[in-house]
Amino acid sequence: MEALWERLVQWEKSGALPFHMPGHKRNRTLAPYLDALSAGLDVTEIPGFDDLHAPEEILKLAMERAARLYGSEDAYFLVNGSTGGILAGIRAATRRGDRVLVARACHKAVYHALELCALQPIYLQQDCLDEFACPASLAVEQVEEALGEHPDIRLVILTSPSYEGVCSDIPSIVEAAHRRGVPVFVDEAHGAHLGLGGGFPPGAVAAGADLVVQSFHKTLPSLTQTAMLHRSGTLVSREELTRQLGIFQTSSPSYLLLASLEGCVSLLEQRGEDLLQEWRGRLHRFDQGVHGLTHLRLLPGTERGVFARDPSKIVIGTKGSGMTGLALSQRLRQEFGIQLEMAAQPYAIAMTGMGDTDQAMEKLKEALLTIDGSCQGEGDGTPLLELPLPKSCLSMEEALTRPFRLCPWEEASEQLAAESIWAYPPGIPLVVPGEVISAAMLAALSQRKAVGVNLISTRGDLNQGIAVVDSDTFFAE
Ligand SMILES: Cc1ncc(COP(=O)(O)O)c(C=O)c1O
Repeated sequence: MEALWERLVQWEKSGALPFHMPGHKRNRTLAPYLDALSAGLDVTEIPGFDDLHAPEEILKLAMERAARLYGSEDAYFLVNGSTGGILAGIRAATRRGDRVLVARACHKAVYHALELCALQPIYLQQDCLDEFACPASLAVEQVEEALGEHPDIRLVILTSPSYEGVCSDIPSIVEAAHRRGVPVFVDEAHGAHLGLGGGFPPGAVAAGADLVVQSFHKTLPSLTQTAMLHRSGTLVSREELTRQLGIFQTSSPSYLLLASLEGCVSLLEQRGEDLLQEWRGRLHRFDQGVHGLTHLRLLPGTERGVFARDPSKIVIGTKGSGMTGLALSQRLRQEFGIQLEMAAQPYAIAMTGMGDTDQAMEKLKEALLTIDGSCQGEGDGTPLLELPLPKSCLSMEEALTRPFRLCPWEEASEQLAAESIWAYPPGIPLVVPGEVISAAMLAALSQRKAVGVNLISTRGDLNQGIAVVDSDTFFAE
């Protein structure tokens, strides 16, 4: 068997067009600093290169520049993705056992923070966009109502933009929370390019969010794993946040990752507005070019239930086209050498980044028009069953420490989950430990499994069954 690095080299040689992360899209002209990073520069904290955990010089200045660019009070470079920033940020903003308000459609990293900090979540279920079966914007009224009902809420946590580029009304959500002295954490992993002009929507930092995490690697020219955490205001302590970052980040950060982050910040400072405008222009021309699609439909910016849309995510709906999003993705790969970011039953996502070129966008447009022309219509499979918000009976921490057993799917109805289950991508848990797997949830999960959605569970044995809390021990008490 070939070595991993050999497989990577082969993959690069294949020339597959990347409509997926990372956002640099191997564009060496745009980001020459990425090409310069090599084994010779692979060091961690050696004399003369500052210290990520106690920065005084080159890293401190770079993070200050990043804060100025986005308008936050403090910016922190992250080397293990937004994941590290989510764990550190949520832990810094809460105390063990606190009640928190959480948009249900958050990434699993948020749920890991809930578990680690033994937080008591009040979940807010977002509406679903009918045709695309993905979460709509989080309604401000839902946040207002929950905050009024639970005056002991200590933090609001939500994702904006979503994996599909759906943004929520962050200024109003922040205003509602701040009126009660509650800080807001925005997972802006998919929106590191927001708030910098160029015709993209404004970002969460400018909206006044206390903590904002951004995966630079998802959309900007920076290496995989690089991300940024922003802190502003007085509701989250700088000292505690710094301490938590020291817990959740490695003590040996890769300077290749840090140099790509710093290089990306410099690029944004020097040419950001122009590059964003060019990217926006490519997206605009693409939109015009696919105007004639008759079977496939792109998620527009003005869909009902959508407060605002980040146009960088091209969400291609397949309802009524005669094929599923998974089949579309397969055709693009096999017939056109185009690799998408994700595919689900009723849609697929082409993730664009700052590194995309006009030629790449042109190829995607031509491929979609060709496929659209060959569509027979209808027969796209049954619509996906709605995922209900499960009832929780035990905290995640407690459910995970109870004895469990693998339960066959047919018998899992009304059992208590002892593991999380999510579709990957996007990595949003559908059930978490301690929640009841209702008949409706089981039906929705079984249907997804049957149509080929990549369902993954914490204990990793979904083909054998679902891990459930051993009812003999649970119900005996
Ligand atoms: C909404 C969201 N938040 C957080 C993350 C985690 O980001 P990272 O991979 O940078 O750790 C992801 C990853 O896909 C995500 O989609």
